[in-house]
Amino acid sequence: DKAGHKHFMAKEIAEQPSVLGDANAHYLTETGINFPDELPDFKEINQLTLVACGTAFYACLTAKYWFERLARIPVEVDIASEFRYREPPVAPKTAALFVSQSGETADTLAALRYCEGKADKILSVVNVPESSIARESDCALPILAGTEIGVASTKAFLCQLNVLLLLAIRAAEDRGTRTPEQLANIRNEMRSLPGLINQALEAAPAMKKTAKRLSAATDVLFLGRGLMYPMAMEGALKLKEISYIHAEGYASGELKHGPIALVDKKTPVVVLAPKDSLFDKTISNMQEVIARSGKVVLVTDSQGASMIGSEAADLIVMPDVPEILSPLLYAIPAQLLAYYTAVAKGTDVDQPRNLAKSVTVE
Ligand code: F6R
Repeated sequence: DKAGHKHFMAKEIAEQPSVLGDANAHYLTETGINFPDELPDFKEINQLTLVACGTAFYACLTAKYWFERLARIPVEVDIASEFRYREPPVAPKTAALFVSQSGETADTLAALRYCEGKADKILSVVNVPESSIARESDCALPILAGTEIGVASTKAFLCQLNVLLLLAIRAAEDRGTRTPEQLANIRNEMRSLPGLINQALEAAPAMKKTAKRLSAATDVLFLGRGLMYPMAMEGALKLKEISYIHAEGYASGELKHGPIALVDKKTPVVVLAPKDSLFDKTISNMQEVIARSGKVVLVTDSQGASMIGSEAADLIVMPDVPEILSPLLYAIPAQLLAYYTAVAKGTDVDQPRNLAKSVTVE
């Protein structure tokens, strides 16, 4: 049932505020986070290894910033199909964490089995609690996204990010790397996310116009720094999956090391740049793109828009959000851009060619 929407993907995008609100009604308590007792004490963990495929891998890349920044814990992130065959050494006091919407992805499951008997703890972040990955981990954390039908992951990605951020907060609490007040603050700010995401969804009409233009492109670049770097890659993946337009996400700082050679007046460049601690750096990369006639779609907040918005060909304005939470908000414009571009092209949004919802063969 698409609940009046044209596609399951549209429905799943639209229900994110309520899905996230429900997930956090479960996870956030007055004083902390409602996690199972089987979770390790992160004081006893020296290394965190995050493994996943596709969109779940980008959730892991985002989580690396959170775990490092909040909990000062060394984090390694890998694609499951590479991790499993590399047979990497697993250091003592390692927790291995597998992220999978379906919980059945063959490579992710094989990577988990590789870690059995090697890692101190095997954790998973899943949407399907009865899945193989959930059953074979010491502790499975459900993302509580509800059934996701659209092949392109949207609400599950958001809910993966949510649980990973909660886990990083817990790790910071265990390790004493942030004060209880600081952590309480972040948890409280997380309660405002459903409202902020609702506001972000109001960018849909502006997004439709931008998407019309994008639908004529053969290549699109996505740029971001810090927490926006994984989001740039996720935005590119989403766009290529459902619109079949070639797209790549890059760290803004890598632009001049190669990809800027691709920029010409036919290349839309989506720049994800909230007014955060790295804004000025990203904007100077954006200006390099404009100087080479690239057509910039700038996604920023009102402060960023008033400073620099007039330089961009297209401007999408997001509500203000604390920097640490920004991935949970900027996931929305990435999804909307892919969705409306695919709609403008008339491709099969929910069942894109060559793709399956659950990849149970390697
Ligand atoms: C992209 C997408 C895929 C999945 C990947 C992993 O929109 O949905 O990239 O994220 O196939 O699937 P799970 O999370 O089920 O392991």
